[in-house]
Amino acid sequence: MNINLAERVDALTPSSTLAITAKAKELKSQGLDIIGLGAGEPDFNTPENIIEAAYRSMTEGFTKYTPAAGLPELKKAIISKLGRDQGLTYKPSEIIVGNGAKHVLYTLFQVILNDGDEVIIPTPYWVSYPEQVKLAGGVPVYIEGKEDNDYKITPEQLKAAITNKTKAIIINSPSNPTGMIYSQAELSALGEICLEHNVLIVSDEIYEKLVYGENKHISIAQISQSLKDATVIINGVSKSHSMTGWRIGYAAGNEKIVTAMTDLSSHSTSNPTTTSQYGAIEAYNGPQDAVEQMRQAFEERLNIIYDKLVAIPGVECKKPQGAFYLYPNFKEAAHIAGYEDVDQLVEALLEEALVAVIPGSSFGSPNNIRISYATSLEALEEAVSRIHSFVEKKSNNL
Ligand SMILES: Cc1ncc(COP(=O)(O)O)c(C=O)c1O
Repeated sequence: MNINLAERVDALTPSSTLAITAKAKELKSQGLDIIGLGAGEPDFNTPENIIEAAYRSMTEGFTKYTPAAGLPELKKAIISKLGRDQGLTYKPSEIIVGNGAKHVLYTLFQVILNDGDEVIIPTPYWVSYPEQVKLAGGVPVYIEGKEDNDYKITPEQLKAAITNKTKAIIINSPSNPTGMIYSQAELSALGEICLEHNVLIVSDEIYEKLVYGENKHISIAQISQSLKDATVIINGVSKSHSMTGWRIGYAAGNEKIVTAMTDLSSHSTSNPTTTSQYGAIEAYNGPQDAVEQMRQAFEERLNIIYDKLVAIPGVECKKPQGAFYLYPNFKEAAHIAGYEDVDQLVEALLEEALVAVIPGSSFGSPNNIRISYATSLEALEEAVSRIHSFVEKKSNNL
């Protein structure tokens, strides 16, 4: 049979982060001692109290469909969390729970975008944003977050990028892949421009709990009532509670948008997995000690590994403020090691130094690489030492 796929998937690029991870796994299965630094998920188990709550819900018979936008008890737990952490007040009709933050974002773009609507995406960006926008008929418009501005965009850049087709902007803080955080003043300035031009703000706060040193996360929705009204917050339990496989994320925002997302979900997924929702209720209502313990473990790794990374010849790296990624500039290191670009170096690192990292080209900034420190300190130290020796060896051989 002759299979013709829909045009909308023609331009779809598979997740490059998953592709590298797959190649690393393949090499590993051939017996090679690969260290993978590509992981986008915490390496800790989900806290025991959450697992127990989910198990209990099943033994008590809560194994049926739930409302499409999530259990009322879970919405209540999310509303309490937003009150506790952000001082924000939402009604249950302004909250929708989905199958992970990724799915919630997908549903959001489906309900807000018409063909040709533009969505501003600062680079470097999380790989799924452009694809999700395109799948909804939208057009990604990139603004370069410059390295000397900690990879963040400026109000001037935003003003220049807005057209009469601009529908929304995505702000991801703390950022994947850069780990940078927008300050209140920076968010305020960007927010004012969005309000002036009726641009919806999609605030992806999935790394909210992973913030280091003196840095603080603030949601743009906390700044004023008008910014709250213009913002859809995206968050979930994946990174904060080490629950990536449970697939629970949520959106909080305008009731009209949330209702449309609920209607769409009612025909696509029916509801997020019931057992996972019970786990998420415990995640938000139960003790938060594990969240802090995981944050501290990430911070310890960051501090140790950062110093070793910047000691590699030619490597420059802004110290990340949050999330669990380092985003060093390897342009100079690639050149001194004899490679034309960082993509080539990344390939050689995998094949010869047996270290898997994600090239910055996947995130819209080809001079960088992304190193996830969601792995043991021992593996991290060994991996960075392998990269160091590899760059030195290659540059000495030239
Ligand atoms: C910036 C960002 N947003 C959203 C997500 C998706 O989170 P979830 O696992 O809840 O779908 C990720 C996961 O890697 C992410 O890095």
